[in-house]
Amino acid sequence: MKVLVTDPIADAGMQRLRAAGHDVETAYDVEGEALLDAVADANALIVRSGTEVTDEVLAAGNDLVIVGRAGIGVDNIDIDAATEHGVIVANAPEGNVRAAAEHTVAMTFATARSIPQAHARLRGGEWAKGEFLGTELNGKTLGIVGLGRVGQEVAKRLGGLGMNLVAFDPYISEERADQLGADLADDLEECLDRADLITIHTPLTPETENMIGEEELARLDDGYVVNCARGGIIDEPALAEAVEDGRLKGAAIDVFAEEPVDQDNPLLDVDDVIVTPHLGASTEAAQENVATATADQVLAAFRGEPVMNA
Ligand code: MLT
Repeated sequence: MKVLVTDPIADAGMQRLRAAGHDVETAYDVEGEALLDAVADANALIVRSGTEVTDEVLAAGNDLVIVGRAGIGVDNIDIDAATEHGVIVANAPEGNVRAAAEHTVAMTFATARSIPQAHARLRGGEWAKGEFLGTELNGKTLGIVGLGRVGQEVAKRLGGLGMNLVAFDPYISEERADQLGADLADDLEECLDRADLITIHTPLTPETENMIGEEELARLDDGYVVNCARGGIIDEPALAEAVEDGRLKGAAIDVFAEEPVDQDNPLLDVDDVIVTPHLGASTEAAQENVATATADQVLAAFRGEPVMNA
């Protein structure tokens, strides 16, 4: 069988597929006609977040059995079209949860203490000790928007470091929130009103798209925003403006509505907005986990066995 990999995944996953006798081909950064050609004779397609798996791509993949998403978010895959074409879509929702939670913690501290800004100043020859008065997170309230797998790991870590927790998630029970030491807010507004810092952990869906706009940001009043989940959930120009005007103290953003991010994106222009290029899942352990889990799903689909997380 031919497996086409269009976003880089860890070797361990590709080796597992080759060891089972399959032909693994890579075609990174392909789009348009080149992607349609590459997928034409593939039996499986493996992607991360870079490849848009549209109706057209699925229609071109005449022999496609499965699309494996080596990661959590499936917002780059047209699930309805896959169902129509009889193609299985499976993600790997466990393997990079800890990596994403750790990146969120790192970004939270980095923005609260202006670490990238201070680093840049010192590298530029300035000892700007008097200019960086940070925020102590101990005793502050963290608002977690989305208390799913990653949100829960963030709750454990930042709760353990002395933050009070309030969460908004219409799909989680009061009991589970209690176990994590988080108060469950009745709605997003309550969560924002109570938080000193919010962190986003929802998927990008029609329900969450542009969920945090100017009005929502105004409720945070002098707080911070962290987003290591998905771009498109927060209104980027509104966030840039709120930090620039000093209505928010800072923001730490790993994900963008358009990726790779356009250099004109206003978030790249504001000193107190720190940014990373969608690195939440980028650890060796996480990449190996999701690549091997995805390879196992492809192998199960080829054998006609049930596929996990399909
Ligand atoms: C995910 O959804 O798992 C992450 O965004 C990982 C990735 O970069 O593909």
